Amino acid sequence: MLLSRRNFIVSSIGLCACLASLKRQAFASVTNRRGLKDLFASDFKIGALIEPEVYMRDGAHYAELIPREFNALVANNTFKWANIHPTAKHWDWSYGDQFVNFGEQLAMYLVGHVLIWSSQNPPSLFLGEDGELINGGKLLSKMESHIANVVDRYKGRIHAWDVVNEAVNEKGWVSNGWYRSMGADYIARAYQVAREADPHAVLLYNDYNLSIPERRVQVLDLIDYLRNKQAPIDAIGLQGHFTLNFPDLSAFEESIVAFSEKGLRIHISELDVDVLPGLGVDQYPDYDSKLDPYREGLPVSISGQLADRYKSIFEVLLKHSDKIDRVNFWGISDTDSWKNDFPIEGRVNYPLLFDRNGNKKSAYRTVAQLKT
Ligand code: GLA
Repeated sequence: MLLSRRNFIVSSIGLCACLASLKRQAFASVTNRRGLKDLFASDFKIGALIEPEVYMRDGAHYAELIPREFNALVANNTFKWANIHPTAKHWDWSYGDQFVNFGEQLAMYLVGHVLIWSSQNPPSLFLGEDGELINGGKLLSKMESHIANVVDRYKGRIHAWDVVNEAVNEKGWVSNGWYRSMGADYIARAYQVAREADPHAVLLYNDYNLSIPERRVQVLDLIDYLRNKQAPIDAIGLQGHFTLNFPDLSAFEESIVAFSEKGLRIHISELDVDVLPGLGVDQYPDYDSKLDPYREGLPVSISGQLADRYKSIFEVLLKHSDKIDRVNFWGISDTDSWKNDFPIEGRVNYPLLFDRNGNKKSAYRTVAQLKT
C-alpha cells in the first residue's frame, strides 16, 4: 500500500515517538540494572563518601544503591586522628574496622582519608604538659607511630591513603602544629612511613582548588620537593568542590594534564557541585534566607544548569580517562552533603546526583547518557 505524504509524516512521527520511548525504556532498564560503576568501568572507578550511619548499619540505608552505582568508598571522618586516636594511649578502631568490613563485603576499592591534616586532631597532639608546643623530635615520633599503626592495621585491605591533606594554601605552607614544630619535613616523612607500613597501598596527596593556576603551581612544587626528599607519592587527589561556574573547566583540564605529566595518577577525590549563591573566599556569614533560595525545591532551570555542568565535567574526565583512576563523589544523596552546612549552616543544597529520597536526578541522567 502506498502511503500518502501526510500519512507518511504522521506514521513517522509516531514511529519516532515510539523509538524515543523505547530508547527511554531501554535506558531506564539498563541503568536500573547497571549503575555508573558499570557505565564507566573502562574509564575509572566511581566512588562515594559514606558516613557511619551507612557502614555501621550494614548499609541498611542505600542497600541497593551503593553496590549498584559505586565500586570505591571513602569514609568521611573515620580515620581522622581525633576519631581513631583520640588520646595518646587510646585508639578507637571500631569505626575503621566496620568500614573496611563493609567495603570488603561489597568488593569495593577502599580509600583511607586522611592520615595527616591540620584539622580534626586531638587538642593534646601538639602540646606538652606545660601547654607549650612540643619539640619537633617528639612530634615526629608521634606522627611516625600513628601512621605506622593505622596503615599496618589495614594493610592489604585499604587500597589507597590520603597521606597528607591540604598542606599548602593560598599563603604558602599551612602553619599548622606540624609545620610550626618540624617545618615541611613532616610531609616527606609521612609518605616514607606510609610506604614502609604498606608497600602496595597507593599514596595520595589531597588538596582543594587545584584548578587555580597559583594553587596548581604550589602543589606541583610540593611534589618536586617530595621527590627531592625521596618521599614516595603515587597520585594526586583533586578534591573537586565545584559550583555551577567555578572552576573554569579548561583550567581543571590543565590541572589534570599537569599533574599527570608529573607522573602522578589522578583521583577526583571529593566531587560535588554547589548550586547556592556564591560567597567570597573565607566568608562565613550568618544564615540569611536570601542566601538559601531553594528550600522548597530546586527550580527546573537550575536543575538543568546542574545537569549541564555535570555533563561538561564528565566530558573532561572522559577525555582524560587514561590518566584518571577514580572519580569520587563527596556523599551519595543531597541529604548527606556537607554543602548543606558549609559555608553557612542550615541551607538546602543540591550538589550530588541523587535527590533526598535517593532517586536519580537529571544530572545523573546526563552523566549516564555520555556512556549509553
Ligand atoms: C575537606 C576535607 C574533608 C572534609 C571536607 C568537609 O575537603 O578533605 O575531609 O572535612 O573538607 O567535609
